[in-house]
Amino acid sequence: MRKLGLWVIVGVLVFGLMGSALAAGVVRLGAVLPMTGAVAAYGQQTWSGIKLAMKLYPTVLGEKIKVVLVDNKSDKVESANAASRLAKEEKVVAVIGAVASSNSLAAGPILEKAHIPMVTPASTNPLVTQGKHYIFRVCFIDPFQGKVAAVYARKVLHAKTAAMLIDRAQDYCVGLANFFKKAFTKMGGKIVAVTYAQTGDQDFTAQLTAIKRKHPDVIYIPNYYTEDALVLKQARELGIKAHFISGDGAQADALWKVGGKAVVGLAFTTHFAEKAVTTKLGKQFVKEYYKVYEKSPPALAALGFDAYMIIRDAIARAKSANPEKIRSALSATKGFKGVTGIINIDEHGNAVKSAVMEKVVWNEKANKGEFKFVTVINP
Ligand code: PHE
Repeated sequence: MRKLGLWVIVGVLVFGLMGSALAAGVVRLGAVLPMTGAVAAYGQQTWSGIKLAMKLYPTVLGEKIKVVLVDNKSDKVESANAASRLAKEEKVVAVIGAVASSNSLAAGPILEKAHIPMVTPASTNPLVTQGKHYIFRVCFIDPFQGKVAAVYARKVLHAKTAAMLIDRAQDYCVGLANFFKKAFTKMGGKIVAVTYAQTGDQDFTAQLTAIKRKHPDVIYIPNYYTEDALVLKQARELGIKAHFISGDGAQADALWKVGGKAVVGLAFTTHFAEKAVTTKLGKQFVKEYYKVYEKSPPALAALGFDAYMIIRDAIARAKSANPEKIRSALSATKGFKGVTGIINIDEHGNAVKSAVMEKVVWNEKANKGEFKFVTVINP
């Protein structure tokens, strides 16, 4: 009899534990980020923001949020593979990613087909969300970003002429260059030279020599940080004095680590600056980011944080972690007070947001480059 009693107690305990383990389930999200390869700095920055969000807001609907990170190695095919793996094997209910637009363009259609919502923190090419029901973003898009750069060139720098050097291997770079060109010429500016390169190129002297001959007032280089750094270095060596402008892809410490003081003065459009923070969440993010990482948060960390937070918010509003329900809650996101500003998702899955202009300066004391806030531009 005593023995039976013991077994009953053990049975109740085991059952109870199992029950509570089931009740406290896990909400599984995926992340497709470039942790290695050409734009590894983007993955590291974004992941630092997602990790901070997980630390500060670890649960939803009483369940723990787990983020399964897959490295896309800065590559399109790897991005598509990562998306399939997350949908089929990892059984995630939503995905954060990718960063580079060409990688989001590769991962997106797979998740669209699997009916798993994807929120890209940073892919700004308009095609990423176009015609898609399951793809969203928390960043602005390139027609706006290109226009902001053009306004800066025309109105602030009073540039009459511009040249461009474009990484034609990236959808983002090609698109952004076109949007800049459109806006700049519409405002009466003239494009005097258009030259091309490819991700991974090392020598840009032929393009820069052709550009130099045209004496442009500004040179637009809407590329990723390594190419921008090398272009600036070689441009200064060739004695080119023009103003350089880039886009959100410029921001990484590798920019000044590769380019040295040649990158000083580069102006670029981006999504976030500590000085432009307006929301409570933004203030908390900046404070906690310094605490954990002991440095100023880059834009991608802020965007990664926001991508996580709007998925979490959608799950909370949907009262369900079902991908279909998350999708409809995401599409109804209005007035979410994020780190990078107020996020309203429009009918295309895009966020309409302000842009920030920054400039590279040199901190002589610390002997390193820094990104300095210039201004905020509203849409
Ligand atoms: N906007 C870039 C793209 O679409 C990605 C990016 C965003 C990179 C923000 C750096 C910072 O490819």
